[in-house]
Amino acid sequence: MSSVSVSHGSGPEALAQAVVQQHVIILVDVLRASSTIITALANGASQIIPVTTVEEARERIYHFPNGFLAGERAAHPPAGFDYGNSPRSFLTDRIRGRPIILTTSNFTRTLGTPHENAIILVGAFLNIEHVAATARHFAQTLQRPVSVISAGSMRGYAAEDDFTSHHIISRLQFPDDPPSYADRGDISRELLVSRHGSILVQAGYEADITFCSQTNRYELTPILHKGAFVTFSPELFNHASM
Ligand code: MLT
Repeated sequence: MSSVSVSHGSGPEALAQAVVQQHVIILVDVLRASSTIITALANGASQIIPVTTVEEARERIYHFPNGFLAGERAAHPPAGFDYGNSPRSFLTDRIRGRPIILTTSNFTRTLGTPHENAIILVGAFLNIEHVAATARHFAQTLQRPVSVISAGSMRGYAAEDDFTSHHIISRLQFPDDPPSYADRGDISRELLVSRHGSILVQAGYEADITFCSQTNRYELTPILHKGAFVTFSPELFNHASM
């Protein structure tokens, strides 16, 4: 299998640079936005519309009468929102066929204004093999490098995102080798000791960390398409490759 060129960066500047360079991008916020987007799509949400601010989310919902508001500030749902940013709360049929407007502290801030024509995939442990295979497919078909971007935190570096990105990169580079990631317990321990992991524990969301530590629970890859994350399918490929 031919190799793909892979780089790693963190935060909004690294993402903007990867967009300009037309890389195939995997955006990683394992705790918890990436894991939430993957889980919501796997449970039938029609699309996840990322917006930067709480105010913008409250305005956008008027255009989606059957939609839900979701997200967090300081780990908790903003006032009046239907959902927070706990991936476990999307394990429900209630969201089937319905759009979700999502705003989070770091992921949607790092993403910024949705980038037309950029190939932006969402990765986490929940879909690690699928997202790596999808990115490899784009990279080899379009002859482009892959950038794995950690969403990071307001402070810049986020250990849990870099840990996850490192394992995604390993799957991109060595797809035929046994996985570099260990079992769910090891992943969970690593996520728990991260700064954001301890914030989530204090806020009462330790079970989210266990949930986000599962590998390959879902065989799907979210892709940004016309300003919203949807489940990647080959029919979208022509649009995404433009
Ligand atoms: C974020 O985007 O900042 C995170 O997903 C925060 C969280 O844990 O909900």
